[in-house]
Amino acid sequence: MSQDKREVINIVGAALRGLTSPVKQLGILSFDDSKQALAAKGQADLELTLPLKASAEEIISALKEKLPKKTHLIPKSIFVENLGLFRREDKLVSGLTGRVAGKICVVTGAAQGFGLAIAQDLIKQGAFVVLADINDREAISQANALCEQFGKGRAIGLAIDVANARSVSQAAHQVVRKFGGVDVLIPNAGVGKAESVKTQPEKDFDFINSINYKGYFLCVQYFARIMAVQHLVRPEMYSDIIQINSKSGLAGSNRYAAYAGSKFGGIGLTQSFALELIEDGIKVNAICPGNFLDGPLWSDPEKGLFVQFLRMGKVPGAKTIDDVRKAYEAKVPMGRGCKPADVVKAIYYLIEQEYETGQALPVTGGQIMLS
Ligand SMILES: NC(=O)c1ccc[n+]([C@@H]2O[C@H](COP(=O)([O-])OP(=O)(O)OC[C@H]3O[C@@H](n4cnc5c(N)ncnc54)[C@H](O)[C@@H]3O)[C@@H](O)[C@H]2O)c1
Repeated sequence: MSQDKREVINIVGAALRGLTSPVKQLGILSFDDSKQALAAKGQADLELTLPLKASAEEIISALKEKLPKKTHLIPKSIFVENLGLFRREDKLVSGLTGRVAGKICVVTGAAQGFGLAIAQDLIKQGAFVVLADINDREAISQANALCEQFGKGRAIGLAIDVANARSVSQAAHQVVRKFGGVDVLIPNAGVGKAESVKTQPEKDFDFINSINYKGYFLCVQYFARIMAVQHLVRPEMYSDIIQINSKSGLAGSNRYAAYAGSKFGGIGLTQSFALELIEDGIKVNAICPGNFLDGPLWSDPEKGLFVQFLRMGKVPGAKTIDDVRKAYEAKVPMGRGCKPADVVKAIYYLIEQEYETGQALPVTGGQIMLS
């Protein structure tokens, strides 16, 4: 399918979320252009033709003209000529409760670590979650486990390489096909490699920046377009982009410069996106967690940071992994590493706070104090 056609489906899906939802919230909507869906054209509640080469504004105004004005007459299924079938999925939403009930939340890097824990908490709080990861097998398997626990259709796992524009564009489109749009984007995928600036290979610097810095830019580029359409239809509704940054985005990190630089850059992007995207009803903030010492990034026995730091002698006098861990705990006024539960509290704060954008919120047990 051409990129143009995908873009049009994204616009129509995101617009119909607002235009056909029977409640104040945006609805959940699926899209189908399989052979069976195209063959069942005559069975849709409404069939319409749209100016597919037009702008988002023109497509929205054509939709408004063609949809019935009375709420009780709003169709459940809409067949758009030359595209396919959009179907409201009201049953999936009914009865959901929680702090993000009915919201569509996309988390990148969600196959493990912080990303997985965030997705698991969001679904508990009533969200539809997309676990997007370069490790798509694990993301899909984790999403299936969530569906077993919380109900069919509540989670999907998707392949995404955040460093690749085509892959991000395809993932954003898959989200629209499954749910109709996006309310919360959490760019969380991130990588780090500890090494001295004097020896770190250029390819490692490029790799880290392609994911942590460029990857964040690309995710916002494709998902913000969908959020902007939702805001055109429902100007009173806001969406959220919350980057999982790091305390290393607020203070330099010894022998971890490529990572810290990529995270500082992420805060520059956060502030700049916030200034630009508020006109599309998008709040953009970053969370800067302290070290998640129990997570795989630190604790992986082969490539984890404890092992890396021990091997490179980053902690003077440390002879074991436990010595390295203790040294890192001692840097935190509150005496422990950051946990996913600490991060999700900050996520809910940023979503619920209607009067803040462009911020970088530390969650570091006091290790970083803003002035
Ligand atoms: N672990 C920490 O101590 C810590 C502290 C502060 C901030 N952070 C940040 O939190 C985020 C998550 O860290 P984590 O510790 O959970 O990491 P992790 O290594 O446990 O998980 C990262 C996930 O990102 C995925 N990923 C890697 N490259 C990708 C790509 N190109 N496209 C899509 N997915 C990709 C991996 O497959 C993995 O599932 C990162 O941005 C990290 O910088 C971590």
